[in-house]
Amino acid sequence: MATRDEIERVRESTDLVALIGEHVALRPRGREHVGLCPFHDDHRPSFAVVTHKAAAFYKCHSCGAAGDCFSFVQQFLRKEFGETLQFLADRAGIELTNERSPEHDDRQSRRAWLRKAMDSANGHFRALLQDDSHGIAARQVIEDRGISAEMIERFQLGCAGEGWSTLLDSLATDDLPVKVLVAAGLLKQRDDGHAYDAFRHRLMFPITDESGQVSAFGGRIIDADDTPKYLNSAENDLFQKSRTLYGLHLARREIISTGRVIVAEGYTDVIACHQAGITNVIGTLGTAMTSEHARTLSRLCDVAVLLFDGDEAGQRAAERAIPIIMAHELDVRICVLPDGLDPDSLLHLPDGHDRFAKAVSHADDAFAFLLARLEGQLAGVDGLSGRQRVLETFVDSIARSGLSKAAPLRRAMLTTRLAELAGVGPELIADLLRRSESRGERPHDAGEVEVEAMPRDTEVVAPVLRRAELDYLAIPIHSGLASLCPTDEQAKDIFDPTAQRIASALTRICMEGNDAVSMQRLLEELGDSADRTIASDLYFAGERLIENTQGDEAAAMTACLEALERCRAEIDSRRRMTDWKASAERDPQAAAAVIEHLRGMGPRAAAMPRVTGG
Ligand code: GTP
Ligand code: MN
Repeated sequence: MATRDEIERVRESTDLVALIGEHVALRPRGREHVGLCPFHDDHRPSFAVVTHKAAAFYKCHSCGAAGDCFSFVQQFLRKEFGETLQFLADRAGIELTNERSPEHDDRQSRRAWLRKAMDSANGHFRALLQDDSHGIAARQVIEDRGISAEMIERFQLGCAGEGWSTLLDSLATDDLPVKVLVAAGLLKQRDDGHAYDAFRHRLMFPITDESGQVSAFGGRIIDADDTPKYLNSAENDLFQKSRTLYGLHLARREIISTGRVIVAEGYTDVIACHQAGITNVIGTLGTAMTSEHARTLSRLCDVAVLLFDGDEAGQRAAERAIPIIMAHELDVRICVLPDGLDPDSLLHLPDGHDRFAKAVSHADDAFAFLLARLEGQLAGVDGLSGRQRVLETFVDSIARSGLSKAAPLRRAMLTTRLAELAGVGPELIADLLRRSESRGERPHDAGEVEVEAMPRDTEVVAPVLRRAELDYLAIPIHSGLASLCPTDEQAKDIFDPTAQRIASALTRICMEGNDAVSMQRLLEELGDSADRTIASDLYFAGERLIENTQGDEAAAMTACLEALERCRAEIDSRRRMTDWKASAERDPQAAAAVIEHLRGMGPRAAAMPRVTGG
């Protein structure tokens, strides 16, 4: 295992804004950076990255996700801790001294094995492309397509050998057992156990995850008679089709800086665009865009231009995809390239670059596209009931996409324009929409990343006491001053379970000998995501409390301590009162005697409740 020191070194060398900024378009606001939260379906910038003083952490004010660079990579890029550490260390150019053995965790070791298989296969395919005999036919295809040497490098193209066991013979060793290669989808296995290459005689396109690591492959036929034309890896622990976009790691920077993304259909289209210097282009893997794709893109930019074939299948695909995408914070435009050409063919024409750029800049608003389609369909049916059916089907697809719920403004616009088009009142359309929605159809969405935002403590603690205890922790959390952290004894006096866990985490960090307690260290120390959410809230609460005392941290601390003491005293006296009431009910006569006695002692005591006997 890596040492604490190494973890700290990696953390200190990681620029959190830069790291997160590769995946979320962030803009500065005050002392923070803000953007759309990558952990839930965010429609306004709820996500803040805080990097000042002792703090470097992120926090979503809406879903509560909070953490540091490690948790971001673990949760967003879906890596295990070991992979995360290695990934961030590589990024920062830090060499980890202790080679970690991944075997201690099943899932982690499975992923590590898969990664090793993918990396080895990628190396194998790339080497084969340069091979004097194996690579000839594939290199010819590449040359025919006009793909440059630079793109071969950038997209790491390779090829699979012609026989049944080129990969098997070269990769299956003790180091990389057959069963790992089968799990990675690189080998297939017959019932009798005999294994053979899954990809044979194909041009290979590695598919990467968002961090640029190979997680799957697409293979295109070399021989025109072979089928199918494209073969993709099956899904595995590293690869989920619905959230993978081809070329995203290469296009991300340009997508963020131009604020727009161009979505192509094929591998070769993406490569042709990059080769032509248009680098904000990514591809879906031959499938329609999913809600998850749209969410990924909405974090990065505002405008998505979808390139579609002019044919009917392409149009129908667009019609299905648009409402799904529009349910996210993306302006969607539809671009049909001239003469039914795909980007690859167009860009290889002499004036292709200009024609491509022109088509993209004239891309139709998706609304207009949808409505034009609807208009055509309405015109194509006879009679009222036919038109009604077309309209209902259309409205239904809108309702199911989640668009109508997620984007009220778009819903309103759509309702108005639909009404105009169908020649009915907008109330009727609104009514249709509501009915479709209430039919209880779930949106297409494949489910949120679960972030637990609410504390799960079931103990009922006086909310006022809880608040006072949390405020008392807010000052050390915000200031990072170890001198203000509770001592062990003080931590034990804390009543609320969450506050107590946070207090003892602070105490533990102080006991390691730190005189500053960084927010990220605290978040790491708190294993529970609900606790992390509250701790990060306290960071902001601390900021406000310290502002109240004009930036004087000690004064803020004193004020919080006093408030806490008052609160404890109040609860104490109420408790005594309750105890007394209980005993008075058990023995009214004794109680009455006590009260008579107290009456003689002055006005405050006289305010004690009267106990009516029996
Ligand atoms: P080239 O013919 O080499 O230019 O490829 P292309 O990308 O133009 O192919 P095409 O337009 O036929 O298909 C677009 C995308 O759809 C491809 O890049 C694949 O992702 C996907 N696709 C096409 N054919 C198949 C197939 O037979 N199986 C699968 N799984 N996907 C396919
Ligand atoms: Mn093509």
